Amino acid sequence: MNIDWNNLGFGYIKTPYRFISHFKDGKWDEGVLSEDEIVKINECAGVLQYAQTCFEGLKAYRTTDNRVVCFRPDLNAKRMHDSCQRLEMPVYPDDKFIEAVIKTVKSNIDYVPPYGYGATLYIRPYMFGENPVIGVKPADEYQFRIFTTPVGPYFKGGVKPITIRVPDFDRAAPRGTGHIKAGLNYAMSLHPIVDAHKNGFDENMYLDPATRTKVEETGGANFIFITKDNTVVTPKSNSILPSITRRSLLYVAEKYLGLKTIEREIPFEEVKTFKECALCGTAAVLSPVGKIVNKDTEILLPSGMENMGEVTKQLYDTLLGIQLGKIDPPEGWLKEII
Ligand code: PLP
Ligand code: COI
Repeated sequence: MNIDWNNLGFGYIKTPYRFISHFKDGKWDEGVLSEDEIVKINECAGVLQYAQTCFEGLKAYRTTDNRVVCFRPDLNAKRMHDSCQRLEMPVYPDDKFIEAVIKTVKSNIDYVPPYGYGATLYIRPYMFGENPVIGVKPADEYQFRIFTTPVGPYFKGGVKPITIRVPDFDRAAPRGTGHIKAGLNYAMSLHPIVDAHKNGFDENMYLDPATRTKVEETGGANFIFITKDNTVVTPKSNSILPSITRRSLLYVAEKYLGLKTIEREIPFEEVKTFKECALCGTAAVLSPVGKIVNKDTEILLPSGMENMGEVTKQLYDTLLGIQLGKIDPPEGWLKEII
């Protein structure tokens, strides 16, 4: 193993073990850890024809006192459960999900980056329909897998503010397909992401696909905004992913920092009145946004392009402090691995 922890980006690095469980004849098998990273499936597999697949994302952190923990895996289990039900896939039981996450991280423990490098072990549970399906219907056989990969910051500049734009594209269908983590939602965001990068933007700010007037989320993270009176405001919508990081930040804002929080619809027109803006998610952590471009108009957030806004920084330090074992966590937030 020869990894430069200082210069990790957000990419795939093969780690020794992955967890694999098969669903067949109406039940899940016990599952195994395997050294083989190659998935070999039928050409007509449900996932290849009708994109019957969903996934989750969480991280393992090495703490200041050299424990390894992961952050609220029960909520990933629950959300994957919801994704599977919406996609007519068999649910992988929540307790088994957590057990499998722990097993997979333990077996790759040397790949959990040491404390102090700003790097983590990203954990990717996913499921897909495996047997041949040619009529439009769900598969009968599935694989549930978990692999891990050490990662650094999602955006190249780390915590440097990024520039995003409002694209001409919709990513989700108008009636709420964004609230699950399904392959097809993400496939629909690939063209807008490539187009954003081509035009010099780091991400897209999607508006609601029904009216294109309200702020939704980006390709891989939710939004939070800070108002002039230091209230944390975040979009209410049934076509965005219910981010675990966002739920945690709202709790941290209220209970640790004494800030007011509101989840409500946010007209794009209101964005120019906010003091700070940031993207939150497992991969994005809390990435400050400095500028938002909508065709010919630019919104420059008062927090600017150099530093994180003041409230964003407090939220970031507190959340990371909890994840790295420096600040006492709320009951049940950290699942100890070793
Ligand atoms: N929104 C989208 C589209 C995402 O892909 C993610 C990442 O998982 C998030 C939001 C953030 O969710 P979480 O905080 O649970 O990682
Ligand atoms: C995550 O933050 O876990 C995500 O899924 C975002 C992206 C890498 C898809």
